[in-house]
Amino acid sequence: MRLAVIPGDGIGPEVIAEALKVLGEVIPTAEITRYDLGAARWHATGELLPESVLGELRDHDAILLGAVGDPSVPSGILERGLLLRLRFELDHHVNLRPARLYPGVKSPLAEPGEVDMVVVREGTEGLYAGNGGLLRKDTPHEIATEVSVNTSFGVERVVRDAFARAAARPRKHLTLVHKTNVLTHAGSLWSRVVEEVSLQHPDVTVAYQHVDATTIHMVTDPARFDVIVTDNLFGDILTDLAAAVTGGIGLAASGNLDITRRNPSMFEPVHGSAPDIAGQGIADPTAAVLSVALLLDHLGEHESARRIEASVAFDLATRDHSSPGGTFAIGDRLAALV
Ligand code: NAI
Ligand code: MG
Repeated sequence: MRLAVIPGDGIGPEVIAEALKVLGEVIPTAEITRYDLGAARWHATGELLPESVLGELRDHDAILLGAVGDPSVPSGILERGLLLRLRFELDHHVNLRPARLYPGVKSPLAEPGEVDMVVVREGTEGLYAGNGGLLRKDTPHEIATEVSVNTSFGVERVVRDAFARAAARPRKHLTLVHKTNVLTHAGSLWSRVVEEVSLQHPDVTVAYQHVDATTIHMVTDPARFDVIVTDNLFGDILTDLAAAVTGGIGLAASGNLDITRRNPSMFEPVHGSAPDIAGQGIADPTAAVLSVALLLDHLGEHESARRIEASVAFDLATRDHSSPGGTFAIGDRLAALV
């Protein structure tokens, strides 16, 4: 197993060190190559993602990323030049974000119920495709456009993946989230594709919800959701809410997948570089560890993935949540448990 690791900035390297500690326990033979992309490299050399590095990344089975970003870098540079560029170049069209409320973890909701959902977010299109521009900049007549791109091909491949995931889960329930009543063009395409693909999955029940109503149900009755399929922007926003409802950003893992497997998929905690707590050794590495479990699942190492999830579940059920221990301590516990 050849893994490219981008520890990144802030708490990225801190949580990645613990994730690799746990990985080392289950796959001791994994070959790790580190890449120093992120804010520090941009400051030092002006480079974001050199072609040669992109070429080397392609030559791995998967990529593990901590987080990139620093207050010293103007907004958008690393996001568009590094993160989004990786997602587009490596065709990470399925952004997978599970949200599960583990026993022992306190939700901010009084009665959350049993929350165990997977959001399948489209990763390469929609409002994030970069289709837009500025005209007459810095004049009173400035025009800014940001066009949502939805292709039949792009929608179908993510909807197919979501149905396959729903079919493999006990509840076999899929919810399309969109805003079909207002975004009638894109909404029509998404609805028709879901309807067509559903014919091949008679075992999967299908529901539809507008994105605004989804934010209500995510708070009043999150247990109703099983698999959600949605576009890039709605998925970005809803998965932060889902993470908050299931115990917070320190636990939320994600995968950026090329399901055709032509390019390496990339796994990362949902959180960012958290400059407010960087260097203090208090970041929770659990999200990074759970991202390793997603990585192993994607590479077919299901037994190892289940061992990591079981270790996390045990640790969360027995942890003193008022003083969970620092980054190293949590990593050590998980490595010992696994
Ligand atoms: P953030 O996720 O870094 O932090 C939000 C809050 O959550 C902060 O109070 C932080 O201390 C806390 N937090 C985050 N991860 C935690 C952990 N593992 N354990 C305990 N607490 C944790 O989001 P923010 O502040 O909006 O962004 C900071 C930087 O990270 C920015 O430069 C942003 O662009 C970047 N970013 C990068 C991402 C990536 O690399 N994929 C994703 C999100 C943000
Ligand atoms: Mg986000």
